[in-house]
Amino acid sequence: MTTYVTINADMAKGKINRNIYGHFSEHLGRCIYEGIWVGEDSPIPNTKGIRNDVLAALKKIKVPVLRWPGGCFADEYHWKDGVGPLESRKKMINTHWGGVLENNHFGTHEFLLLCELLECEPYICGNVGSGTVQEMSEWVEYMTFDGVSPMADWRRSNGREEPWRVRYFGVGNENWGCGGNMRPEYYADLYRRYQTYVRNYGENKIHRIACGPNVDDYHWMETLMKEAGKMMDAISLHYYTIAGDSWQHKGSATGFSNDEWFITLERTKRMDELIRKHSAIMDQYDPEKRVGLIVDEWGTWFDVESGTNPGFLYQQNTIRDALVAGINFHIFHEHCDRVEMANIAQVVNVLQSVILTEGERMLLTPTYHVFDMYKVHHDATLLNTHLVSDYYEHDGRKMPQTSVSASKDEQGRIHVSLCNLDPAAGSDVRIELRGIAGASGLKINGTELTASAIDGHNTFDQPEAVKPQAFHSYSLEGNEIRVQLSPRSVTVLEVTV
Ligand code: AHR
Repeated sequence: MTTYVTINADMAKGKINRNIYGHFSEHLGRCIYEGIWVGEDSPIPNTKGIRNDVLAALKKIKVPVLRWPGGCFADEYHWKDGVGPLESRKKMINTHWGGVLENNHFGTHEFLLLCELLECEPYICGNVGSGTVQEMSEWVEYMTFDGVSPMADWRRSNGREEPWRVRYFGVGNENWGCGGNMRPEYYADLYRRYQTYVRNYGENKIHRIACGPNVDDYHWMETLMKEAGKMMDAISLHYYTIAGDSWQHKGSATGFSNDEWFITLERTKRMDELIRKHSAIMDQYDPEKRVGLIVDEWGTWFDVESGTNPGFLYQQNTIRDALVAGINFHIFHEHCDRVEMANIAQVVNVLQSVILTEGERMLLTPTYHVFDMYKVHHDATLLNTHLVSDYYEHDGRKMPQTSVSASKDEQGRIHVSLCNLDPAAGSDVRIELRGIAGASGLKINGTELTASAIDGHNTFDQPEAVKPQAFHSYSLEGNEIRVQLSPRSVTVLEVTV
């Protein structure tokens, strides 16, 4: 059987906001401490406390935006405890995540330095659950006010003369759950109140982000849009992919069955339905699509690796995770008229990470490689694409075998990303490129990510077991590209016209 793809290179569908390739970093497990921050005195090479190997790896994938400090941690975080001399910073217990001591050594200055080094936008999540309006308002003043004021002066006395530019600010996190267990009517009123004091100072224009629904809580979305839609620039959505039958048994990150492979991919594809249905509600209150949808937590969530702290959410990452990433990116591309940002959870050592560390060692996960291969889509123009896919069948159930997305960059190069969801069978794909002049001179470059097993992954002893390889299994006939995709693979083709 053959899969047919038609790409209309002269039909633009919108712009793929680079921010959908965003990341999330929480004070959770070994994400911040060990994963990002080792402190200036560490034997691990670092820049003002931030580890250099992780910095370099993140720079390579051009992280566009980084969310911090949580997650659930955000609604327990009191930012004033995290500024000033390290030795005098107040300590706290991280009650959500493992009950460990938080020494607040990584605070506002350190996070914003990290963003400067990465050249990415900071996305800060404020505390609604246990913080005050004044605290939130003063945080914004501390970071962004240029004149003379108590908070701006305090910032200067802590060593930062110039204000930072902070574009994205979230007013609470999961306030339907860990962020205060609120009803949407109550949170909508709180949102209206808190956001009033999230001020724009000088040139710094803040994009105010409301806490949105969990998965398919359409009542939450409806209430927020109705009661507060005019006072927000964006609203969030959280959806995690699990493979097991419950949150107690989420399935294993490695050593899983073919059944769990199928279930994981089937469930992750639900992101499309969720975005469509939430967008339809948003359309009723915001037909001009002024308010963005930000999927600021997504990815796989499996059982923790054995022997690790259950509150640290540390999991391995396989070629299955790479496919989850590729599939979700294609979904976000298709909804680029509404989805303006997405932040995979989480950047290092937690859930579907792009990087894992162990002491001084670091490895790049299969998910990292998808971010790297897909960076060609950043800010590119999404092209109209039509797919007639063969099926991947498992135990009497089936789903389209192939997922595809195509974009055109500023230089006119077309990038086609293809996921073969079948863990065992290759896929023959015919791609017809319409709407291009000079089909006879097409040039193609390909990169493929696959693995020798369905749970193929990298370890600290074998950090390059799964990595992108040059892809040559294609032929060109006029404006048709014939491609043989490997089983369980993610492939990116660059077509130069
Ligand atoms: O990413 C882990 C946790 O998942 C976050 O802290 C929370 O927002 C969500 O429930």
